[in-house]
Amino acid sequence: MPDQPSTTHAHEELASVSTPLRHVRLTVNGEVYERDIEPRRTLLDTLRDDLGLTGAKLGCDMGQCGACTALVDGEAMYACLLLAVEMEDRPITTIEGLAPNGELDPVQAAIIEHDALQCGFCTPGQALALKALLARTPHPNDEEIDRALSGNLCRCGAYPKLRAAARSLARSEV
Ligand code: FES
Ligand code: FES
Repeated sequence: MPDQPSTTHAHEELASVSTPLRHVRLTVNGEVYERDIEPRRTLLDTLRDDLGLTGAKLGCDMGQCGACTALVDGEAMYACLLLAVEMEDRPITTIEGLAPNGELDPVQAAIIEHDALQCGFCTPGQALALKALLARTPHPNDEEIDRALSGNLCRCGAYPKLRAAARSLARSEV
């Protein structure tokens, strides 16, 4: 029986296989970026490494933590689960896009006002999740706020303060 390649060896071989690049036009935070990208490259890697937008964080890299959250067509999505080549014609917003001229978005201001950030690694994704919620539901109740934040895991317990921040925005225009 012939020798079987080891799993490690197989993974190394797979990683070394180069695939043809695809020319992609992405609209992020209102700016158009054109790049040649491997079809298997995630939106998260593209944002961080190709476009220099490091606000979206790499956490689990498997759709469980929400640290990579970006808005796609206005909806909060996990950028680690999306392929960059599939994002053409789909406007993307990252946390950098909420304060384009250094002026904080009301969601960011409310998070600061309510002291709703701790480690900070999760905060960009939480802010974007709240932004998406308030855009579609301007006056959310606690259940809706909790559901909107349920995809953004936080171990330090910032949820009550995030809820307070969202509640304060429910009374104003965002
Ligand atoms: S890094 Fe994308 S969900 Fe955790
Ligand atoms: S804000 Fe990061 S673990 Fe809570």
